[in-house]
Amino acid sequence: MNTLFEPATVGMELDQALACHLGDVPAQASQGLRDTLGAMAQACARISEIASQGVLAGAHGLAERSNSQGEAQKNLDVIAEELISMALARCRHVAGWASEEQEQAQVSDDHGTQGRYLVVYDPLDGSSNIEANISIGTIFSILPHPYRGTTPGEMGFMQPGHQQIAAGYVLYGPATLMVLTCRRGVLVLTLDRTSLYGAGPARWVVAQDQVRIPAATREFAINTSNQRFWEKPIQRYVAECVAGDAGPRMKDFNMRWVASMVAEVHRIMTRGGVFMYPRDSREPRKPGRLRLMYEAAPMALLVEQAGGRAVNGTSELMDLVPDTLHQRVPVILGSRDEIDRIVGYHADPHENVSWQLFKTRSLFVQPQA
Ligand code: AHG
Ligand code: MN
Ligand code: MN
Repeated sequence: MNTLFEPATVGMELDQALACHLGDVPAQASQGLRDTLGAMAQACARISEIASQGVLAGAHGLAERSNSQGEAQKNLDVIAEELISMALARCRHVAGWASEEQEQAQVSDDHGTQGRYLVVYDPLDGSSNIEANISIGTIFSILPHPYRGTTPGEMGFMQPGHQQIAAGYVLYGPATLMVLTCRRGVLVLTLDRTSLYGAGPARWVVAQDQVRIPAATREFAINTSNQRFWEKPIQRYVAECVAGDAGPRMKDFNMRWVASMVAEVHRIMTRGGVFMYPRDSREPRKPGRLRLMYEAAPMALLVEQAGGRAVNGTSELMDLVPDTLHQRVPVILGSRDEIDRIVGYHADPHENVSWQLFKTRSLFVQPQA
């Protein structure tokens, strides 16, 4: 039996599609989630508008300040942060929020005790790409407020990814797309840019429902300038891909690197692939580049809802319980067959042995001449 939820939402607007997806959820909770996602969608439509105006809207350049993690902020990082936090502050279902661009979690002045949800987000992902006019994005995750009736402290946010009620990203590319899951499969919506010039709310229209990531792929994405810092299982996996049909995989692979995780994940949603930002030894204090709560966990939920897999090498990303708000983790996600293989390499006692060694010992079948 096909247990997948299969609503025919293509062509519907966001709220109508969400009502359809959340048909089995009690009315108040459904309304809460619809309003919260609607608030996020409206803020992101505004970010899209500003990003598309570039220098004309002051979207380029450095803000001449850093975030709590010591990273230089761009003007658009700051603008996006303000637009999203203001939208969440107005939403009566949101008790608190936390962001890459704020050191501490924020409690809603008006809805801190009664709000149902905590929202965690990366307001602007891929900010190094803004001036190059390359795709950028926003990533968000909606968690339950675990101590409703009291205000959420930072501990309330320390929930593993499998607790997420919804997650999504917005990709500001040639078209602006929102990719969303309420744990009932993955929806893709396109922003109708003509709606930005009217008086009403932005119009998001469902372009695809129940996105599936192919299990097999020949495409991977990794920043190879870090190669000398990678651990052995990733060295082995990438070496085998690069060896192509002359290596043990006996097929050629293609490589891409956009440096905007949102764009990489969307390519994987579209045609499969593997995205890796693995653990490396550059800075032993940082076990990875990407942040667990507002990059890794929401992307993991989306990828798994589309049939893919998301791990840190040995564990599922959604099983990791955060210790701190800005915790970093290794991220390996995408087409299931390849992620299973990479997890296998991490578990393999022979992982230190390169494929070349296997090849010279004739342990692998040689490709046909
Ligand atoms: P952010 O702009 O929010 O700091 O995130 C950028 C992330 C991610 O989007 C991307 O995959 C990665 O950093 C790029 O890293 P490199 O600079 O190593 O390419
Ligand atoms: Mn980011
Ligand atoms: Mn960011």
